[in-house]
Amino acid sequence: MAEAFGGQAGIRRIVGRFVDLNIADPRIADIFKNHDMIRLRRTLFEQFCYLLDAGCTYSGRDMKSSHKGLGVTRGNMNALVENLQRAMRESKVPFAAQNRLLAKLAPMDKDVVER
Ligand code: HEM
Repeated sequence: MAEAFGGQAGIRRIVGRFVDLNIADPRIADIFKNHDMIRLRRTLFEQFCYLLDAGCTYSGRDMKSSHKGLGVTRGNMNALVENLQRAMRESKVPFAAQNRLLAKLAPMDKDVVER
């Protein structure tokens, strides 16, 4: 599964691009303001690497406490997923592998979306 993403180096590149897209996206940029993006790049990399069985341990917080009070809407969530799809597409991750990662993330939305 991790091979389709280019191993740890590929995952790191995709996460970097994904974070860049999110903080530049007028639909959701404000939600990321005043949060630690250095930490987010690291913990998001660990989470994706762990989910893709690429040999990492996730050291961040659980999804409910990480997103508590951010007021994330379903629309914000859709925007973020679009940005992840774009980052994966740009890194030439095959469509089926993109969907396997999205399927692992999908059940977390209930802990992220608040309104
Ligand atoms: C299934 C979808 C999502 C996943 C898997 C996810 C994953 C993560 C992870 C791993 C962290 C880091 C936790 C830590 O460092 O302890 C995080 C933090 C964060 N996420 Fe998400 N996220 C999702 C959806 C979203 C959405 C839709 C938004 C806003 C549009 C968002 C905004 C943030 C922000 C602002 C933080 C930093 C919070 C802080 O520093 O206290 N996330 N997320």
